[in-house]
Formats: sequence, C-alpha cells, structure tokens
Amino acid sequence: MSDRPVPDAIERILLDDVDIATRVRELAAQISADYSTTDDLVLIGVLKGAFIFMADLTRHLTVPHRVDFIALSSYNRGADSRGAVRMIMDTRINVTGRDVLVVEDILDTGHTLDYLLRIFRARQPASLRSCVLLSKPDRRRVDVPVDYTGFTISDEWVVGYGLDYADRYRTLPYLAALKPEVYEKA
Ligand code: PRP
Repeated sequence: MSDRPVPDAIERILLDDVDIATRVRELAAQISADYSTTDDLVLIGVLKGAFIFMADLTRHLTVPHRVDFIALSSYNRGADSRGAVRMIMDTRINVTGRDVLVVEDILDTGHTLDYLLRIFRARQPASLRSCVLLSKPDRRRVDVPVDYTGFTISDEWVVGYGLDYADRYRTLPYLAALKPEVYEKA
C-alpha cells in the first residue's frame, strides 16, 4: 500500500492496489488469449482517465500490440448531461484494417464510448472492441457494447487510478469513493 496520506475528501477505499492489479492481470490474460492470432492489435487509451489503466494493462499483455491515445472533452457533465463529446486529439496510428481495442477508465452514461465506437467504426478497422476498468450500470443512458469489464460499481463518485474530481486525485494508487459533500456542494 502507498505511504501517501489518504486525502480528506476520500470517504472510503473501494479497491486497493492489489485488488486492481489482480483484475488487470486477469483482463490482460483474457485479451491476450482473444488476440492470439493477430499481430496488428492497436490499443487506444482515452485521455486523460485511462492513462494508468492503459499503462498497467498493456504491460501484462503477452501478444504483440501497439498503443495510441485519443483525447476527448465533454460538456454538460452530471445529471443533466446530454452527452456532447468533442475530440481534442486524434490517434496517430491509422486504424483502418487493424484490430482496435478502445480502453476506457469508466463507463458511466455511455455517451463517450458510444461516440468513440461510432468514430472508429467509420474508419473500418478489421475488428473493434472495448475494454473498461469500471462500469456504473445504474447511470447508463446509452446501450453501448463492452467486451471486457474490470469491475461493476454502484453510483458513487470514484477517484484514483486515473479517475478525477475537478482534475484532482487522479494519481492515487487505489480507487476510492469521494465524500458526497465534496461534489454536492460544487
Ligand atoms: C470520463 C471517463 C470517460 C467518460 C465516461 O471522462 O474518463 O471518458 O467520463 O462517462 P460517460 O459514460 O458518461 O460518457 P471525463 O470527461 O471526466 O474526462 P477525463 O477522462 O479527462 O477525466
């Protein structure tokens, strides 16, 4: 466990570094088995949230692969979200004809992953799948396909391991629930 003090804004730790590492290794094993016959796998991490998950997941893959990133910005987050998503940085690898796996930290309403899958599908990859570390089914507004899910969680604001609140707490080495008063007063 980390020596870093737990911030006051944290209500409780949901998944510690060992829990996360165990599950990430399992996901990597499953993905490696499923892509054992291709040498043209491209994992696309969605910035910023997926950067830690992506780094850990890819280091446990046993199949050849490349990595790339896409950065998005979303409007109207929260309960009134209408799901508007804007791309602010595209991938550099041309995904046409390649096996693409989109890697996300969290699937919440589903708007972001839905947007990403539409974009990449239009570029005609050989195959297109998605991997999310966390899924919050209670928040879903768009029915979006997910091929690999790390953990299913309840509707709480989760930070750490890449996930933020107002761009803070991303680098905590665990996944934790934020105290409701922190985001309710905002
Ligand atoms: C978060 C997360 C997903 C998205 C999921 O990104 O990283 O990309 O929200 O939400 P949805 O399913 O409701 O669309 P955010 O906009 O917070 O940006 P960040 O990754 O840079 O933190």
